[in-house]
Amino acid sequence: MNKNNYHMKCLKLKTVSLTFVFLYILSGCVENKDSSGLEYMPDMYRSPAVEPYVDYAEIRGKHDEEKSMKLSAMVPPLSTIPYYGTDSQTVSLMLPHSRRPNVEFKQTHGLNDYLFSTSNEYELAKMDSVNPLNLTKENSKEIFDNGKKIYTSMCAHCHGEKGDGNGPMVTSGAYNGVPAYSDRKALSNGQIFYSIYYGKGAMGAHGPLINKKEIWTLVHYVRKFQDKDYGAFEVEETKKEPVETNKAKK
Ligand code: HEC
Repeated sequence: MNKNNYHMKCLKLKTVSLTFVFLYILSGCVENKDSSGLEYMPDMYRSPAVEPYVDYAEIRGKHDEEKSMKLSAMVPPLSTIPYYGTDSQTVSLMLPHSRRPNVEFKQTHGLNDYLFSTSNEYELAKMDSVNPLNLTKENSKEIFDNGKKIYTSMCAHCHGEKGDGNGPMVTSGAYNGVPAYSDRKALSNGQIFYSIYYGKGAMGAHGPLINKKEIWTLVHYVRKFQDKDYGAFEVEETKKEPVETNKAKK
């Protein structure tokens, strides 16, 4: 009898504790399909440090509707300068661009988080004649090779492989109004940079997609379409050589 009682008690205890365990597990279930339910160990689901691309609406059982389905990756604070190593030429190329977008670019080109200007800085960029990415005999091949790579993936579908404005986007009839670079030889280096960086007319801003060094590389590449001898150091060399040998003969 005593033994039976003991067994009954054990059974009851087991049933009661199993029910509790079952209820505890059930308590994690919620109706909202987007919710992960009660998180028993929230730190294992979400790192306490804010990480990009994580939905932070649900933390420790509290749901914050405002944050729901919003990416946690934020635009860096205004005028933040990324770290590009210690090479001073690269660093100076990457500093914030001195010409600002006009306030209208907010609407026309969807630019946000920039310092805006009320003047027409594209016109002012006519004076910016220097490409700060210095083209030399040593680096010209690398610059043009890089330019080709970026141009082929980012620009050629509109501007065409030859820079004549006949990329597949245009020939398919999907898009028009793309100029041939040869029709815009009067543009300054600064204006070409400005148009690629902030966009112009039907062309979108590429500043958020490629960095400033890559854009200055493209400026050299666009110049090459306008003048095939642009940056051709070898041509100058071969021109010089015969003159020198002539002199030597005399
Ligand atoms: C979606 C199509 C499209 C893409 C992609 C595109 N462009 Fe353009 N681009 C245009 C159009 C359209 C214009 C004419 C804008 C105007 O003058 O109103 C233009 C104009 C230009 C101009 C002349 C700007 C000026 O100030 O007159 C340059 C230089 C240029 N693009 C370079 C590039 C480069 C380099 C890339 C690649 C990073 C590129 N574009 C990507 C459509 C495009």
